[in-house]
Amino acid sequence: MSRIPLIIDCDPGVDDAVALFLAFAAPDALDLLAITTVAGNVSADQTARNARILRQIAGREDVPVYAGAQGPLVREPVEAGHFHGETGLGDLALFEPGEPVAPGHAAQAIVRLVMARPAGAVTLAVIGPMTNVALAMALEPAIVPRLGRIVAMGGARREGGNVTASSEYNIHADPHAAGKVIGSGVPVVLLGLDATHQVRATQARIAAIRALATPPALAIAQLLDFSVRVEKVLVGWDAPPVHDPCTIAYLLAPELFVTRPARVGIETASPLTLGHTAVEFRLEDLSAATVHWATEIDHEGVFALLLRRLAP
Ligand code: BDR
Ligand code: CA
Repeated sequence: MSRIPLIIDCDPGVDDAVALFLAFAAPDALDLLAITTVAGNVSADQTARNARILRQIAGREDVPVYAGAQGPLVREPVEAGHFHGETGLGDLALFEPGEPVAPGHAAQAIVRLVMARPAGAVTLAVIGPMTNVALAMALEPAIVPRLGRIVAMGGARREGGNVTASSEYNIHADPHAAGKVIGSGVPVVLLGLDATHQVRATQARIAAIRALATPPALAIAQLLDFSVRVEKVLVGWDAPPVHDPCTIAYLLAPELFVTRPARVGIETASPLTLGHTAVEFRLEDLSAATVHWATEIDHEGVFALLLRRLAP
C-alpha cells in the first residue's frame, strides 16, 4: 500500500492528542508531511506548543509543526479549555519541547506542501477550527483543485450540537472558515457528532490502552481519564466521546465507516444557530456531491485499530 501524504491541522486538545498519537504510530500508512496548529480549544501559542510536546513524547520530531491562525476569520474567539484543561492537555505534566516550531505560517506551509506535489496527492485531516485551511485557500486558490481530499471532524445533524443547540465546536469556533472549506469543492469527508458520539472511552478501553505502557499509550490513558472526569461533570456522561482520532482511523481503515453523499451548508446569519451544519441528503445528483457525511462508525473496530497501532 502506498503511503498517504498527510497534513494534520489541529488544536490540541485532548482528543487531538489521541489523533496525533495514532497518526504518529502509522508511519507505514501515513507520510506525515506536517502538523499545522490553530487557535481553538486553547490559544494558538499553546496548541503549537502542545503539538511539539506530543511529537516529542512519540519520538516523532521528524514531523514539522507550523503554527497558524491566532483566531477565527470573522467571529470572536471561543475556546474550550473547560473540556481540555487550562493547557489543552488535561492534567498531563508538560515540559519545554526540545525542537522549535518550523518557520512560516501554517497556511503558507499548507500551500507550499500541496503545490509541491502532484494534483490529488495530499490529504488534509482537519480536527480543529478550519481557519488555517480557509486562509491557505485564500492565499493560493490553486490548492483547491490540487488537494486530494479533506477528512474533517466537525458538525452535527441528528445528535444536535455540543456548544449550542445545533452547533458543534469546530464549526462554531470558525463558521466562516468552515463555510469556505466545506463549500470549496474539495472532496470532504465530514465526521460530525452523529458519528463521533458512537466512539466512547469506556473504562475497559482506557485500561487496555494503559496496559500497553508506552509513553504515548500512558499519555493517552491519562488524557482520557481527564476527559472522563470532565465530561461527567459538564455533560453527565460516564464514557466521553473520542472525536478527533476518528479522522485518522478513517484514513487507516475507511471500511469501519458508513458515509452518505450530502450537501452541507454552514449557518452564519443568526447568533442562535451560528455554526449549525445544514446537512441535506436529498440531492438531485448524488454522484456530484463533494461532501460525504458520516452516519455510522464501527467503534469496536476503531478501538481495536488504536490498540493495534499503539502496541509496542
Ligand atoms: C471537537 O471540538 C474540540 O473541542 C475537540 O478537540 C474536537 O475537535 C469536538 O466537537
Ligand atoms: Ca480538536
